[in-house]
Amino acid sequence: MMQEYDFDTIIERRHTGSAKWDGVHCTRENGRIPMWVADMDFLCPPEITRALMKRAEHGIYGYAICDESYYEVIVNWMQKRHGWKIEKDWICTSPGIVTALDMLLRTYTEPGDKVVIQPPVYYPFFSVVANNKCELLENPLLLDEGKYRIDFEDLEEKFKSGTKIFLFCSPHNPVGRVWTREELVRLGALCLEYDVLVIADEIHSDLIFPGLTHHVFADLSEDLARQTIVCNAPSKTFNLAGLQASNIIISNPDLRKRYNRTMRNSGLGLLNVFAIEGLKAAYTFGEPWLDELLVYLKANYDFLQTFIEEKTPQLILTEAEGTYLAWIDFRNLILDDAAVEQQLKNEADLILERGSLFGTGGQGFQRLNFACPRVLLSAGLNRLAYWINTQ
Ligand SMILES: Cc1ncc(COP(=O)(O)O)c(C=O)c1O
Repeated sequence: MMQEYDFDTIIERRHTGSAKWDGVHCTRENGRIPMWVADMDFLCPPEITRALMKRAEHGIYGYAICDESYYEVIVNWMQKRHGWKIEKDWICTSPGIVTALDMLLRTYTEPGDKVVIQPPVYYPFFSVVANNKCELLENPLLLDEGKYRIDFEDLEEKFKSGTKIFLFCSPHNPVGRVWTREELVRLGALCLEYDVLVIADEIHSDLIFPGLTHHVFADLSEDLARQTIVCNAPSKTFNLAGLQASNIIISNPDLRKRYNRTMRNSGLGLLNVFAIEGLKAAYTFGEPWLDELLVYLKANYDFLQTFIEEKTPQLILTEAEGTYLAWIDFRNLILDDAAVEQQLKNEADLILERGSLFGTGGQGFQRLNFACPRVLLSAGLNRLAYWINTQ
């Protein structure tokens, strides 16, 4: 297949106000290679840039609404990419998914309600639970021969104790699992049995390695759809995190009404004008770009795997099935993960994220973002290998 898009060229991102490249710990004469926060060092599909420029040229940026075509492109995308048939009026908005998670908990919980999460997991899951004064129940994932799985027995115990909400990460950041239909069906049965409301954060659902399939949690059955809220967005898929447009899909009319009321009352009911244009262009024109991106990301993951096997066999790479985040076990180094993160930053000029940020089970790991041109990945890995091999 001819490659149409260029993922190989390094695009200078310093001095663009990039959190990843210009954030507080990135500087050191601008020489550090950042492989931490989850955005990609690739240009987005050109149609998105053109749509934003066209809108920018208009010159008036008043309050914006989502028109019919906004909803249509989301309906079409879900159908085409995930085989999920949704109605336009199920689609609610949020600038970001973390904002939505917080607002969803604000809407459906009272202080003290129990919320289950599966660490090690994306760290705002902890803060949104705390922010809403809910009780956090952990159902830690189990690591078996380099791959994570769900501890269903423990989950059932947690549900039995009166869980209100299951905050589910699918695909899972940071462990890279794309949950199988069997796993999801088993989870779904427990959620139904114990009447647990599911908030499924599916922001990474378009980033699945070739050959694998993501299953939308709400699409498993009509009963589950009634008690599931699906959060997704074009932000990870097309590298639009700074535009801030997210889809919160709620088929249950009562749950939807309550969420929309919270958003309106919090002044979060409208999206910004560029978010709307960006989302529409992404879902309308972005598919060929995405298909090439997925091949490139998988090749980067394979490159990383080979590199670790050959140059840093002290490290253990978790088997990933999607996302662009690698979860790497550094425990053979006998240094705690905060020290590893600091030393990599200061001695190797490489910025990773320490595993303990992701809670139980994260200690001793680092998360590495491999969504960058391969030469940059290679440069970062060479710094890592040099640091490890001169310890
Ligand atoms: C699972 C998960 N949810 C949410 C987000 C962030 O979403 P947003 O920037 O829209 O708040 C991320 C970003 O990495 C993520 O991995």
